[in-house]
Amino acid sequence: MNIKTQLLKLLESNRDAHISGADLARELDVSRNAVWKAVESLRAEGYGISAVPNKGYRLDDSGDILSAAGISGFLRHGGAFIVHTRKSVTSTNTVLRDMAASGAPEGTVLAAETQTAGKGRQGRSFHSPAKHGVYFSLLLRPGVSAVDASMITSAAAVAASRAIEEFFTGVQVGIKWVNDLFVNGKKVCGILTEAAFDMESGLVESVVLGIGINITKPEDGLPDELGDVVATLTDSTSGSDGQRNRLIAATLDNFWELYLKLSDKEFLGEYRSRSIVLGREIYVMSGVDKKAAHALEIDDDCGLVVRYENGEIATLASGEVSIRPR
Ligand code: BTN
Repeated sequence: MNIKTQLLKLLESNRDAHISGADLARELDVSRNAVWKAVESLRAEGYGISAVPNKGYRLDDSGDILSAAGISGFLRHGGAFIVHTRKSVTSTNTVLRDMAASGAPEGTVLAAETQTAGKGRQGRSFHSPAKHGVYFSLLLRPGVSAVDASMITSAAAVAASRAIEEFFTGVQVGIKWVNDLFVNGKKVCGILTEAAFDMESGLVESVVLGIGINITKPEDGLPDELGDVVATLTDSTSGSDGQRNRLIAATLDNFWELYLKLSDKEFLGEYRSRSIVLGREIYVMSGVDKKAAHALEIDDDCGLVVRYENGEIATLASGEVSIRPR
């Protein structure tokens, strides 16, 4: 962890008091000048850090800055990730895919304040207003087949569910197959996984796992077309209260633990128990068509086993379903 990241961590954990430059220098085992330089560098990233003579430094309350140092400081598996942040990108998935093509290693993370062309599944867009959510992508190089890679998305759904519940007390996250996270019947998080294949081996060369979580309500509300189906984790409209770096770090850490033993499929039990479609009457969507079915089970490859109204049983490997109103 570099000095800036360690300093931010110390300031974050002492938000209610000033810490003197001398104490910080001792704690970080660097010179006071190095502390001052790190403070300046954090300020340049947008962190409000007040300095009071004879008292020291303190992080301002308003500090909800999305930053690489902020995210890295909260990571338990810090060594696994190289974190980058940007103010605005088209789509973190698109930019990270380009970084992957230029040789970026597994564990590269790109998070953005806002996306101008955030991508959702099935060619949809993903609304990504600044300060009101987290939008980030993780590059993986798993060297596995397409079927095994599809488990990455399901593991990510469980990881993000756990992270959300950790920070938002009382919130219970359900998973709508394949990978939409729902709270109180509305979608709060979407996951888009994009893979590149090695044509020679047929194996997946790289996977860009993109996660978007809606935290607070934009001042001008959600776009009308999203109003019925999409929600935010809190009713607040006032930015996300310092939680964004923590939420990204917790999601990455949770995911990493599942990813390291992906083939054990240990998370499947939790994936099933979080499912909001199992046992329900659903529609299987196919373009503009929808076919009524009953959701029977989620198999060991995370396929959704359904029974159509004519009695035919099918296993869906991917696609989109919606829950039929009772
Ligand atoms: C969906 O709900 O259909 C999937 C949405 C995925 C959104 C995330 S936000 C970060 C990453 N970058 C994107 O452009 N999309 C994903």
